[in-house]
Amino acid sequence: MNIKAFLFPGRKRSEAVDFSAALRVLAPIFRRYRGRLALGLISLLVVDSLQLTIPQLLRHGVDSLAAGRATSTSLLLLAGLLLLAAACIGLFRFLWRFMILGFSRHLERTLRDRIFEHIMVMDRAFFSTWTTGNIMAHASNDLSAVQMACGMGMVAALDAVVMSVAAITLMLFIDVRLTLIALLPMPLLAACTRLLSRHLHQRFDLVQAQFSLLTEFARTTLVSIQMVKAYTLERLQERRFDELGRRYVRSNLKVAVIQGLLFPVATLVGNIGMLLVLYFGGRLVIHSTITLGGFVAFVSYLALLVWPMMAVGWVTNLAQRGLTSLRRIHHLLLQQPLLSDRDVTPATPCEPPACRPRFVFDHLDFTYPGAQQPTLRDICLEIGPGVTGLTGPTGSGKSTLCRLLLRLYPVPEGTLFLDGRDVNTLSIAAVRRLIAYVGQEVVLFSDTVANNIAFGRPDCGPEDIEAAARAAAVHEDIMEFPDGYGTMVGERGVRLSGGQQQRIALARALLADRPVLIIDDGLSAIDVATEQRVLAGIRAHLEGRTVLIVSHRINVLAAADRIVVLEQGTIRSQGSHEQLLAQDDFYRAMMARQRFDA
Ligand SMILES: Nc1ncnc2c1ncn2[C@@H]1O[C@H](COP(=O)(O)OP(=O)(O)OP(=O)(O)O)[C@@H](O)[C@H]1O
Ligand SMILES: [Mg+2]
Repeated sequence: MNIKAFLFPGRKRSEAVDFSAALRVLAPIFRRYRGRLALGLISLLVVDSLQLTIPQLLRHGVDSLAAGRATSTSLLLLAGLLLLAAACIGLFRFLWRFMILGFSRHLERTLRDRIFEHIMVMDRAFFSTWTTGNIMAHASNDLSAVQMACGMGMVAALDAVVMSVAAITLMLFIDVRLTLIALLPMPLLAACTRLLSRHLHQRFDLVQAQFSLLTEFARTTLVSIQMVKAYTLERLQERRFDELGRRYVRSNLKVAVIQGLLFPVATLVGNIGMLLVLYFGGRLVIHSTITLGGFVAFVSYLALLVWPMMAVGWVTNLAQRGLTSLRRIHHLLLQQPLLSDRDVTPATPCEPPACRPRFVFDHLDFTYPGAQQPTLRDICLEIGPGVTGLTGPTGSGKSTLCRLLLRLYPVPEGTLFLDGRDVNTLSIAAVRRLIAYVGQEVVLFSDTVANNIAFGRPDCGPEDIEAAARAAAVHEDIMEFPDGYGTMVGERGVRLSGGQQQRIALARALLADRPVLIIDDGLSAIDVATEQRVLAGIRAHLEGRTVLIVSHRINVLAAADRIVVLEQGTIRSQGSHEQLLAQDDFYRAMMARQRFDA
């Protein structure tokens, strides 16, 4: 797969990502938790200085032993001091870990909330480029990379700088030449860890991409499980899943190879330094250039140096990785919906008037972003109070027209008006708040029937829910479910028939109680007898509202005050049922077919 495309979906090659802008995403979070951060970093410095004093204590003890000055009291005192230092190290190490790792978790949460909040305002165009698996992989792996860089990465960097500068200085005080000899393999150690961890991170990216493919495959298979069964594709899907799983394991094994190499290589190179010190330092002790205590302290400092040197390679990669992930998160946060209130012309968008809204299309042409041909052409249409029926062959643009009313796509200026005002001057959310919508594809949540109906009005009582369900002629069906209104609707409503799902979606829209109701082919799966009950049930509700019903059904259209027939994106005809029967061959033919079917 193309890793670049996976890492930055929707990004053109030419678009550079600004690092400093990406870093600015973190600045407010650092400011917010600065107290906690400061406390953590101070504790870390305390730990470092205590660690650096231990070799000095050892040196003192060994020298006094070698000189025959040591008494059991002085040794006991030394042991007590060592114990105290170790206890303090333990305490402050706990403190810094708690503070800094806690900080990094807060940072992760704040960023995660921001990503979620951002995704909530995105639209259909965004979700067609960013798959769910991709968003999930970014939101989990990239977040944890940033969290690692800002938590352990930051600590390790500071620790490495402080420890190596201090340890090398103290070693220089003991013996300059020996220090230079001891440090000889250190750049090699830093280079080895850097090389290995770079490979490690590249392979991690592959693991992430593979994991995203696997989750996306599982998700799409589960969502379309009915289809998989209908086409008896279970075995094929299993094989594909198994293959993706194998690839995931293979990419993980590549990571394991590097992880397995990292520490042995580091220890080996670190021990070469120790070997050199043993040989050359030992000779210095023999020639009495340095004391035995000085030698012991030197070896302890060298041991303290191994970790910072390893950390140099590890931290630079951690930081790089964190920064790359931050760029990706920033890239995601930079995505804008096609249409938002920023596009509304007056700085403060007007609230559309309530009551009985009237939409007017005035010579509207509409082309989907990126499409070559317009989907709607020269639409002149008024959708005012009362019921407007909309029909036409499949692909003629009915759903598109509904989407424009819902303000899901931008429309040219001066082509769509709500109560005389160009919709481009109105707040998008406010327009949407006027509309209750039943889509062509029913969306039900994994929740109870009652909560599914109450989705648009979570505060309403059970009696309101029941009234809406009665109006949508689904109450009796619900009462037959094992737990009535408390019955759980499975993912995508697998336990309900298509007609039941549609009526529950209709009940949801009725309960939302908004001045405009748009039903996009939302009664298609309901049989003729039930359709009559639904139409009778909702009649009272439609009174005084602006209603648009997309349908191919004779009974539904006949109940409309006015009917519009679309054909290939243009209005073919409009008028009452009787007028159309008299004028429009397509309409007459459609009706005749249904009479015949009935
Ligand atoms: N997001 C999109 N981008 C580009 N073209 C689109 C998009 N959505 C729909 N179209 C195209 O617009 C045309 C009208 O689609 P629309 O969904 O409005 O038809 P419809 O009248 O609702 O059909 P149906 O009766 O099958 O629901 C179709 O040719 C379709 O391919
Ligand atoms: Mg449609």
